Amino acid sequence: MANNTINTIVVCGAGTMGSGIAQVAATAGFKVLQFDLNESMLLKAAQSIEKSLLKFAEKGKLSKEAVEKALSSIRYTSDIAECKGELVIEAIIENREAKVGLFNQLFTNNGSQLMIASNTSSISIDSIAEQVLFPSQLVGMHFFNPAPMMKLVEVIQGKYTNPAIVQQIADLALLMQKAPVICKDSPGFIVNRVARPYYLESMHLVQNGIATIEQVDAVLQATGFKMGPFKLMDLIGLDINYSVSTIVWEDLGKPPRLKPAAIQKDKIDQGLLGVKTKKGFYQYD
Ligand SMILES: NC(=O)c1ccc[n+]([C@@H]2O[C@H](COP(=O)([O-])OP(=O)(O)OC[C@H]3O[C@@H](n4cnc5c(N)ncnc54)[C@H](O)[C@@H]3O)[C@@H](O)[C@H]2O)c1
Repeated sequence: MANNTINTIVVCGAGTMGSGIAQVAATAGFKVLQFDLNESMLLKAAQSIEKSLLKFAEKGKLSKEAVEKALSSIRYTSDIAECKGELVIEAIIENREAKVGLFNQLFTNNGSQLMIASNTSSISIDSIAEQVLFPSQLVGMHFFNPAPMMKLVEVIQGKYTNPAIVQQIADLALLMQKAPVICKDSPGFIVNRVARPYYLESMHLVQNGIATIEQVDAVLQATGFKMGPFKLMDLIGLDINYSVSTIVWEDLGKPPRLKPAAIQKDKIDQGLLGVKTKKGFYQYD
């Protein structure tokens, strides 16, 4: 069931997060338009959404009819002129300039009533708002990976964000069967700020020859974490995780303890980004 002011949700970016968010929105009853500049990513997203929905059906969590309905509610496009709706949820690369450019195009095409919810992991909502046409229409809506499974959604209230929109996005998250937490704008918000040392200290241990990747993952899993840090970084995408570390480090004034790790940068330079490229800290087939 869609909510009464949102009919169509445009999901920008069809990668790891965008495809999952499109699936969540379609399952909640919205019409979804999935946009990406890269047509092969759209194709990949369509395949992974179908596979994931069928898995939900196999497990008895969705009926066959619900799967069909969700699949038929999603359209795919690489043409920004088609991106018309009441709400955009954005999940493109973690880069401020790219997001600002996209948002201004979307505002120009849709007008001042368009709401834009950014799934950024770390970029200050205020810093984006200061460069867009309608700052009060911008809010953070931070899903976790994989979006169809993870319940938490951080809803980020920027200093310019219209409070009514913050509430509307939190209500939307509930409608999507998620657990929203409203928080103020700050580098990395809550989860990615707290999680930084988890990743960085693990990489420092390996970089300094104190432990292996496998040892660190095994030990942390044994202490109760669902995934060790290296497995988790591979799932997130090393490029994304590195960008988040860099943004949090820079925006907090470059504290030495939060400096991004060289071993992660080396992997990225070799094109080893984790699960999405089938090789990162581990290999996947
Ligand atoms: N990966 C995670 O675990 C995770 C979790 C939460 C939030 N995020 C955030 O979600 C966003 C996307 O991350 P991801 O892991 O899905 O990235 P990804 O690399 O898997 O996908 C990004 C997609 O954006 C597309 N893209 C790039 N520029 C574009 C543009 N201008 N217009 C349209 N499409 C464009 C790319 O073609 C690609 O398909 C980032 O802001 C990231 O910080 C990621």
